[in-house]
Amino acid sequence: MKVLVIGSGGREHALVWSILQSPAAPEVVCAPGNAGIAAIARCVPVDIKDLSSLLSVTMAEQPDLTVIGPELPLSLGLVDELTLRGYRVFGPTRAAAMLETSKAFAKQFMQRHNLPTAGYAVCHSLEEIDEALTHFTTPVVVKADGLAAGKGVAICDSKEIARTAAQEMLNGRLLGSRQPAVVLEEFLTGDEVSLLVLSDGERVLPLAPARDYKRIGENNTGPNTGGMGAYSTNTLLEPEMVDWLVAHIAQPAIDGMAAEGTPFRGVLYCGLMMTARGPMLLEFNARFGDPETEAILPRIEVRGEHRGLLEALDAAAAGRLASDQLAWKRQPSITVIAASAGYPGSFSAGHPITGLDEVARMEDVVVFHAGTARSEGAVVTSGGRVLAVTALGETLRQAQQRAYAAIDAIQFQGKYCRRDIARQSLEDVTL
Ligand code: AMP
Ligand code: GLY
Repeated sequence: MKVLVIGSGGREHALVWSILQSPAAPEVVCAPGNAGIAAIARCVPVDIKDLSSLLSVTMAEQPDLTVIGPELPLSLGLVDELTLRGYRVFGPTRAAAMLETSKAFAKQFMQRHNLPTAGYAVCHSLEEIDEALTHFTTPVVVKADGLAAGKGVAICDSKEIARTAAQEMLNGRLLGSRQPAVVLEEFLTGDEVSLLVLSDGERVLPLAPARDYKRIGENNTGPNTGGMGAYSTNTLLEPEMVDWLVAHIAQPAIDGMAAEGTPFRGVLYCGLMMTARGPMLLEFNARFGDPETEAILPRIEVRGEHRGLLEALDAAAAGRLASDQLAWKRQPSITVIAASAGYPGSFSAGHPITGLDEVARMEDVVVFHAGTARSEGAVVTSGGRVLAVTALGETLRQAQQRAYAAIDAIQFQGKYCRRDIARQSLEDVTL
């Protein structure tokens, strides 16, 4: 079986690595990939922003299954185009991906289907913003409607600040492009958890829960990033809570999309906040989370009748997902991101990375490349997030010690990481 994975980050490295665990011994090609992915799969160039480039690569490769990592190709309608041409694809159509690509659509969908979420208003003009703000207390959350790479959310302490943020999202000053709408939202407090579910358009299969760390600074300070770390344990959500979330959020969402004529096939990422009023949806994503994926996938047990990720993705794409398709290791996992100094602002690239060979020999550690390239035979930095270092352990603490031992063995100029991934959890309970 030949599989094409689209994307170039740590998430795609984890997807390729996990697909390769399959006993079916698949051939995996990645477009465009990175230096780490190139060590385990053939990489082919593609312009990820260009639909015709993505279509040409797929037609040249003739995969049996295409797995799409990032949201941009989904928003371009890659799944629609490939499906029309008879390819089997894991990922939602452009219409189904609107659960991620339009926050206004997502909030209205949540309301139509009684999914628990913060109170909100969708506004298209300053007049609407002013009127809506009279119904909110502070802090108030302002969200851009469209894709904003993690920069589209402002938590505002006063209505004046919220008014300005919303106005600047609409006129394009804040994000560089005009937003058709903004969403004002009630501010919620509680612990955040990501529950990702696979779906074949009808059935739902939850993955192990994870928590990600979006801010650049320790203790969740500073600007938002693409994600600085994550962890996954079986205890992050009790099994009864997972059942509740599937029954009250994930399954009704999949049913709702099917009922509206836009069935959702792929992975539905439910970003949740566990509030005093119960679990609330902060957002949907229409793809695997990054770096949650790097923490979650190494916990899949590939043994006996449990055949692993490839078989689950293929079953979802073919419309025959089974509820016992995946088994999970008991061991917790942690992923720590090694980033370039300056990220999420400007940073320099091209710095050689050392220590990767030493880390490759470490027990229960796997390094996924996020932003790396090959230059004159050496692996060098090429992005803000450079490596996603994942470790499993008998306990969360052991996983944490292993991940940081690996991070410390890796060097490149300007290496930065957060030291507090999973720390809060270790303080809450003795693990
Ligand atoms: P989102 O892109 O919608 O997930 O928002 C990014 C981050 O902003 C979330 O992970 C939360 O930490 C925070 N956030 C979003 N919505 C709310 C809300 N209604 N109340 C409090 N925090 C929020
Ligand atoms: N980790 C958050 C995201 O992938 O959007």
